[in-house]
Amino acid sequence: MKIGVLTGGGDCPGLNAVIRAVVKTAINDYDMSVIGFRDSFEGLILNNYVTMDKGSVSGILSRGGTILGTSNQADPFKYPILQKDEYIYLDRSPELVANYERLGLDAIVAIGGDGTMTAAASLSKLGINIIGVPKTIDNDLYGTDQTFGFDSAVVTATEAIDKIHTTAQSHHRVMIIEVMGRYAGWLALASGVAGGGDIILIPEIPYDIEVVCNKVRERNRQGKNFSIVVVGEGAKIEGGDMVVNRVIETSPDAIRLGGVSNQLAAQIEGLTGLETRVTILGHLVRGGSPTAYDRLLGTHFGCEAVRLAARKIFGRLVVLNGRDIDSIALSEVAGKIRTVPLDSLLISAAQSLGISLGVEKESLERLKSSNNTDEKTIANKKEVAT
Ligand code: F6P
Repeated sequence: MKIGVLTGGGDCPGLNAVIRAVVKTAINDYDMSVIGFRDSFEGLILNNYVTMDKGSVSGILSRGGTILGTSNQADPFKYPILQKDEYIYLDRSPELVANYERLGLDAIVAIGGDGTMTAAASLSKLGINIIGVPKTIDNDLYGTDQTFGFDSAVVTATEAIDKIHTTAQSHHRVMIIEVMGRYAGWLALASGVAGGGDIILIPEIPYDIEVVCNKVRERNRQGKNFSIVVVGEGAKIEGGDMVVNRVIETSPDAIRLGGVSNQLAAQIEGLTGLETRVTILGHLVRGGSPTAYDRLLGTHFGCEAVRLAARKIFGRLVVLNGRDIDSIALSEVAGKIRTVPLDSLLISAAQSLGISLGVEKESLERLKSSNNTDEKTIANKKEVAT
């Protein structure tokens, strides 16, 4: 067999571990030949690829980023082309299919997040034999209990929170740390709990600024004259909107969030009179060497993707299901994301530890009962964004 591999969407630690597992499993176990497409689906559309052998994946396991390059603007069905001063959008899937056939490919392993999987599901309907591998620091891909990249981002964010902690203590300040994560609060919640945050604000629980300030005041009354606030970039005040940092017209998911912490700092400082500073971690959490956990998870995912290809099982996303590696249909994943269920263990742990989630206990209980709190809570991306 001949297979292709590509990485799509925002990068994260562990991508190279998956590429390495795909190439090595394909060659060692099945004597397949492998090519790697550059910059996501763009490589398939423009026929830009490189032949992969064991040498090409040597020494990459611990490296962040992706040796193949990536793009979050290469949607084959809505590919942006600059014409004069305006973008027009073309369906370039016919070119992609033609290249796939001309290269004599038997399958594509697409490593990516929800945008990549939505495109993959559509390509599958066009007859491309595609298998997805779930990547993202946001941990918001539907159908898998965890994506690779998330653990590394949690570790980086937690280390940053630890460092902010000491300066917060020295200067008696309120320190806000904003982390990425888009419409899901997984990264803020996990790093906030691991980093000993006092207040954690996530998109799933719109915050009440009075509750936030009361927590800060209460700590000061107890002689703890500093506070750590960890906020997900998609967090919003009750009745308010998420803070949009920029709109990238050519990206399938055009909205880029960021900056909620600046609003929050002004509110806290205004209401409590306490000096409040902001650190936005941004892309920092996407960089660096993957944790051992992400290397292992990525390796399992990559091996399984090739096994599925060898068994001619296509149109699937490899997933982590409890402790097992499994797969589900790409058609089930397309267009969905997985947000934090309000009845999750991490939320109740945060509550038990006295961490404020920015709302009174009763309001959270009300929110829980009005929400679908199934472990597999799903939300349509567009509904979440608006
Ligand atoms: O999906 C990963 C992610 O890092 C999100 O957490 C963040 O909102 C977005 O990508 C940022 O995208 P970009 O790299 O295009 O700014």
